[in-house]
Amino acid sequence: MQFSAEVLNAARALKNLARNEQVKTYIQESPELYPLLLKAAQRYITGESREEGLLKAQQLLSKGYRVSLEFIGENTSNREECARAKDEYVALINEMGQFPQSSTVSFDLSHLGLSINRQLAYDYLCELGKTAKQYNVTLMISMEESAKTDAILDIYKRAVQHYSNIGLTIQAHLYRSVQDIQELLNYPGKIRLVKGAYQESTEVAFGRSEALNQQYLALLTTLIEAKHPVSIATHDEGLIREMITREFLNKKHVEVEMLYGIRADLLKELKNQDVKTGVYLTYGKEWYLYLCHRIAEFPPNVYRALNDITSDSDTEINSY
Ligand code: FDA
Repeated sequence: MQFSAEVLNAARALKNLARNEQVKTYIQESPELYPLLLKAAQRYITGESREEGLLKAQQLLSKGYRVSLEFIGENTSNREECARAKDEYVALINEMGQFPQSSTVSFDLSHLGLSINRQLAYDYLCELGKTAKQYNVTLMISMEESAKTDAILDIYKRAVQHYSNIGLTIQAHLYRSVQDIQELLNYPGKIRLVKGAYQESTEVAFGRSEALNQQYLALLTTLIEAKHPVSIATHDEGLIREMITREFLNKKHVEVEMLYGIRADLLKELKNQDVKTGVYLTYGKEWYLYLCHRIAEFPPNVYRALNDITSDSDTEINSY
């Protein structure tokens, strides 16, 4: 679907607003705005509690999907809050470890201390790696804005040498990802390939374009030819059809993941063709940035958000 320049500018503005910590705090602390916008967020998040996340995860597992669960949050600059987030993740891993199927836990390192210092995030990551190693649980580090890419790569490379159950997300929109992927082939962790959600300057990244789609396919081809474990994380139907033509999707080390609430129809179609398919689920109270990104990526979602705010139904799970 093509959008006008005006709509694309509004989407860019929303992505910039998403990173404004004052707006985020204002909404989270507002007794009027928080519950109202939560209704719009609920299309994309499972709920505010771990129990809600685990319940949806079990429902999806029973339908034959893989699941990845995130306790949502980022840019945490308070030590106690980082420690609480880490404890929440330990509890989540222990509960997901009881699932009969293997599952994944995903997180932003800036939720786990990166906004304070690298060592803290590294230490917490290793603690989670050690906990997850007892079970069939994979940890996936999310990728944040480009100012943090070096730090995130550095922490991943150090930790994965001790815990091979840790994987990393790479954004195809960054020009540097061509070199980064070459280097990451030397490490065992799974790579989750995404286009990139953050608003970046044209000095470092492609915008949504044919050039970005070509870079996505080129990076994916590198990973597939190297037989590296990879998650194809996109809702782009055109790209997925191209991957089917290239016979990329039925390989043992390849899976397709989509965000909860987006293109369930397409994911279901792939699952029915025996492609390994996974749903990325989130829970928690810090959904503001996540909601902004989901609306900015597909501006008609603003109408869905308005509808969701004025209705009470939560039937997204039935689409899978
Ligand atoms: P694109 O944005 O070009 O959209 C292609 C088509 O998909 C659209 O035309 C529309 O049909 C559909 N679509 C896309 N988004 C939609 C939406 N919100 N609502 C409805 N339809 C939509 N990013 C990041 O920077 N760091 C990270 O760690 C992650 N992690 C991550 C994990 C997983 C499992 C997924 C699927 C995605 C991420 N992302 C991410 C987000 C990612 O970078 C990207 O912003 C979104 O996936 C949207 O990009 P698409 O690849 O879908 O293509």
